[in-house]
Amino acid sequence: TDRYCVFGHPVGHSKSPMIHADFARQTGQDIDYTASEPPVDALAEAWRAFCAEGGRGANVTVPFKADAFALCDTLSHRARRAGAVNTLMLGGNGLTYGDTTDGIGLVRDLAYHRVSLRQKRVLVVGAGGAVRGILEPLLAEQPAALMVVNRTAAKAAQLAGDFADLGNIQGGGFDTLEGRFDLVINGTSASLAGDLPPLPETLFSPDAWAYDMMYGADPTVFLQWAGPRGAKLLDGLGMLVEQAAESFFMWRNVRPDTAPVRSRLRQSLN
Ligand code: ATR
Repeated sequence: TDRYCVFGHPVGHSKSPMIHADFARQTGQDIDYTASEPPVDALAEAWRAFCAEGGRGANVTVPFKADAFALCDTLSHRARRAGAVNTLMLGGNGLTYGDTTDGIGLVRDLAYHRVSLRQKRVLVVGAGGAVRGILEPLLAEQPAALMVVNRTAAKAAQLAGDFADLGNIQGGGFDTLEGRFDLVINGTSASLAGDLPPLPETLFSPDAWAYDMMYGADPTVFLQWAGPRGAKLLDGLGMLVEQAAESFFMWRNVRPDTAPVRSRLRQSLN
């Protein structure tokens, strides 16, 4: 039995053990996937100890994604760009490889719901670590324009500059918002506090989608605001399942069907 785990602090509410157990059952893979809560300054030690006990790979969540990035011997291109790692894998040579599957998880979730970004106007709200992790995969879908807005305008401008070689991306404060968008992604942690970013009433194009990277039993305040303004709604549950599927594929070379896992996870929220 190959061992995997999720590192987080706290980790008690992580859905990853349930998701990966479902994937393993569905694909007949003999793996054991647990949750681990190292001290906040001790991810590297915890990873080495886990490997010494037969660990082959791990997911990494808050607050360890930058520490995971720092401990890797080799990194995927997209992880280097994101400055964060959510998936660790122990190579046969004993070296640790790091990747980030959050952004591709988002793009796969959009594809699952038949949302195309090609030639569309896309707005990303927020400019923290979570947003940095999704910009490269979003730009690879070739939107007509990608706008990043943030409470702290300078952080959005910085991000836009960092990714400007990959496509048409602009960044600024909420006061720079102009025009309507086909897809608006909330990547702020404002939902956690029940806060709504200061967005204009005339934000959505006809047929637009509103996507919150957070999820819960009830719609987030952003989705509650977007619904009556004409947008179709998606929360971050599908992104969570899809990023897990990408990690599982990296480790096991088998692609699980995410549909039944989505349903089961949704039911478990109520
Ligand atoms: P994460 O890793 O989740 O991205 P982060 O790096 O702390 O966490 O980033 C949090 C993001 O949510 C930032 O874009 C933050 O805006 P600032 O850069 O101006 O701090 C945004 N955010 C958090 N609370 C918010 C609120 N109440 N209203 C608007 N934006 C908020």
